[in-house]
Amino acid sequence: MLEIRKVTASDAKNILEYCKVIGGESDNLTFGAEGVDITVDREREYLESILHSDRQLYLVAVSDGEIVGTAVFTSFAKPRLAHRAEISLSVKKAMWGNHIGTRFMEKIIDFAKNTAKTEIISLEVRSDNRRAIALYEKFGFETVGTFPGFMKINGEEVNCDIMRLRL
Ligand SMILES: CC(C)(COP(=O)(O)OP(=O)(O)OC[C@H]1O[C@@H](n2cnc3c(N)ncnc32)[C@H](O)[C@@H]1OP(=O)(O)O)[C@@H](O)C(=O)NCCC(=O)NCCS
Repeated sequence: MLEIRKVTASDAKNILEYCKVIGGESDNLTFGAEGVDITVDREREYLESILHSDRQLYLVAVSDGEIVGTAVFTSFAKPRLAHRAEISLSVKKAMWGNHIGTRFMEKIIDFAKNTAKTEIISLEVRSDNRRAIALYEKFGFETVGTFPGFMKINGEEVNCDIMRLRL
């Protein structure tokens, strides 16, 4: 049984471990198998700080007690950027294609429209990440440009598309 719920501060340790797993499963993310360089305490503080925010949303997909996906919606703070938010999504490889990404997107867009009152959602995605681009296009995202050399992985530059959805 798969549940999608808001993150809690007590997920901090599991999320950091999850990041190492998904970082090692593809070269689609901004980090690899090393995960993200944050201590459990700092991650917990961050999660606590956004828990009740109506401008930030952090969702986890949980299967049999294990985190198998995350979706993060982050509104920009600066007044001139505050009409915008960015998102990042990931699902464990064994669970790809089970519409977890689709369920995340539905919840994020609902939150963006009705709670955060966001006008534009944007994201960066590897230009060759066909599955992710298909997911975003399904929800109406359009590519506004390609950033050559957005990432560099093992000495090789990787292009990313900038996508956005006007709500
Ligand atoms: C991208 C990612 C989040 C998608 O999650 P997911 O749960 O696998 O996505 P879904 O099952 O909801 O599929 C979404 C759409 O992708 C497309 N898709 C599915 N399988 C595909 C494939 N093999 N090739 C191309 N597109 C595919 C379909 O359009 C599908 O929608 P549909 O089934 O309604 O037609 C997930 O694959 C992932 O975490 N990948 C690694 C990390 C990553 O790339 N994150 C995004 C960084 S920007």
